[in-house]
Amino acid sequence: MPLTFNKSALLLGLLLALGQAQAASEPSPKALASHLGIPHPAVIAHRGASFDAPESTAAAYKAARDLGADYLELDLQRSKDGVLFALHDNNLQRTTDVASKFPERKDSPANAFTMAELKTLDAGSWFNTAYPERARPAFAGLKILTLDEIIDIAQGSPRHKPGLYIETKEPKQFPGIERDLKDKLQDRGWLSPNGSTLGKSALAVGQGKGKVVLQTFEKSSLELLQQEMPNVPKILLLWVGEGSIEPKSKVTFAESGDKDKAAYYAKQEPKDKAEFQRWVDYAKAQGAIGTGPSAALTQGGDQSYSDLVQPWMNEYTHNQGLLVHVYTVDDVVDYQKVMEAGVDGIFTNRAGELLKFYKRPAVVGVEQVLLNNGY
Ligand code: G3P
Ligand code: CA
Repeated sequence: MPLTFNKSALLLGLLLALGQAQAASEPSPKALASHLGIPHPAVIAHRGASFDAPESTAAAYKAARDLGADYLELDLQRSKDGVLFALHDNNLQRTTDVASKFPERKDSPANAFTMAELKTLDAGSWFNTAYPERARPAFAGLKILTLDEIIDIAQGSPRHKPGLYIETKEPKQFPGIERDLKDKLQDRGWLSPNGSTLGKSALAVGQGKGKVVLQTFEKSSLELLQQEMPNVPKILLLWVGEGSIEPKSKVTFAESGDKDKAAYYAKQEPKDKAEFQRWVDYAKAQGAIGTGPSAALTQGGDQSYSDLVQPWMNEYTHNQGLLVHVYTVDDVVDYQKVMEAGVDGIFTNRAGELLKFYKRPAVVGVEQVLLNNGY
């Protein structure tokens, strides 16, 4: 009946208007970032300046700091004797000489080693072998770093103090790591609420309200981080695959016939729109201030995953009052693409290049920054 139709149309119109009003009532992403003390757009130095120096070492973190990155990103693990340290991989094979120093334990997880044992490893020479064009003699013998040492680096320059962007890596392997992290950050004065905003300059990020951002792929760890550090900004990392967003296709990489994983991941997409939205909604409900979605990179490569920064995805996330920090993007063509799609910050191995792209170039180039730090 016409009357029913009119009533339905009216109701629909009201609901749509309400939805729009709700979206409009959210602060802009830039205003939200500013309120949180997070630069916008943010430069997150992924494992330090890890294109130019061995990842997660002093050379990479000092270079990222001195180039002017907003955040030093790290993957947090805990040694057998309870020391928090930074390492991406589960084991030590790719980035250290564990196979020659501890041949019988070379496949053991890094957390099966004491910090003293980890400190005997060379975490730099692998880089010289893998990237001869970027090799430097001084990289040989670089050490795995404790969280304390990375904090020292972040605080260690009078010119620029970056914040820390800390991922609980495989947190189920480390029961209680969220509490350990809180204790360490508290001991080091990184949880005190000094500096309410960025002030006039993004250079103050390491001294302001947004000086620590916590990140995790694990729902359970997000909940524990929220419990331990309710006032510290948190990001839920997203990808399409096991433990995260359910894929539309159940075909595995092995079954796909794709030549490499990047090609496979580029075709992966969320099961449906609602599945993507559920993860964003979950992040918000658990107190996260944003999401950290993957990107599909133009050149492919082992950091290229599903494109989770499509404009509609970013728009949905923003409409929930959340920020989007995309990982891990190194090329100008992709910086451009993800910024146009609406992201609020980028994890990059090339902090110097991203700063240039954002028209915030470092005063000195990466070569000089490495030399200045003795590399
Ligand atoms: O932490 C964001 C990004 O680093 C996620 O990827 O595997 O490099 O830690 P991954
Ligand atoms: Ca990480």
